Amino acid sequence: MEVIGNLQLMQERSLALRKEGKIIGFVPTMGYLHEGHLSLIRKAREETEVVVVSIYVNPTQFGPGEDFDRYPRDLERDRSILENERVDILFAPSDKDMYPPDFSTYVEETKISQRWEGERRPGHFRGVTTIVAKLFNIVLPHRAYFGEKDWQQAKIIKRMVRDLNFPVEIIVLPTVREKDGLACSSRNTYLSPQAREKATSIYKTLKKGEEWLRKGWGHKEILEKMKKELEEIPGLELEYLVLVDPDTLEPLQNIQKENLFLIACRVDGVRLIDNLCVKLEK
Ligand code: PAF
Repeated sequence: MEVIGNLQLMQERSLALRKEGKIIGFVPTMGYLHEGHLSLIRKAREETEVVVVSIYVNPTQFGPGEDFDRYPRDLERDRSILENERVDILFAPSDKDMYPPDFSTYVEETKISQRWEGERRPGHFRGVTTIVAKLFNIVLPHRAYFGEKDWQQAKIIKRMVRDLNFPVEIIVLPTVREKDGLACSSRNTYLSPQAREKATSIYKTLKKGEEWLRKGWGHKEILEKMKKELEEIPGLELEYLVLVDPDTLEPLQNIQKENLFLIACRVDGVRLIDNLCVKLEK
């Protein structure tokens, strides 16, 4: 596996690969890789000829007081995982190259980024769209892979790609879960064993919501009952639990064919997000 840190070198390498007619698959990550990342990498390996993975903990998507400093980092661990997955290129740029001191240009989606995570984490999505746009311009991929775990992020990136005409196909793959249902996330490393146990109630509650939707219950009743179940877990603080349209992310007035539960909560202080899309026969 080639490891590239320099932006210009990465861009030149991609340009040369494109000239040779190679199809480039790209998986952007912030490292501390888990099974969710591996599912994206394996799909890219299957579908494209050259797989590039980036590892970069992007400072502009973290707000003041968030976990930028303690975000888990272990490049050697990640590097050996990527070698095993037969990744062709690891792109690991530095902060000073990505954001020179006079950096002053940002990319911002202004509609679907406003709600939910956008409301709770001001500036987060502007940081995400900016870094993803930069990475696309440096890595020049044909296809880029994202996880459904960050549903809102994936929608915003798709919108950015459409609105700004990036020649990149965005592939979004299902959330990978631990055996007990907890969605894989690098932030799960923050959970104590007790908090880890409590965190399983997130997916369990989402599945109950699904069951009640399928039984034909009304959405208000379902959300109330789900919230009540979660409130009973000591140390679990709900930030939002909503039922929205999977495309617009606007709250639903009526149950429709496709319904998306979005949830954000803190478990013993650790912030976790998850979601579940429920398709009904209508
Ligand atoms: O989902 C992530 O890990 C990050 O938001 C991304 C897309 C790599 C941008 O930093």
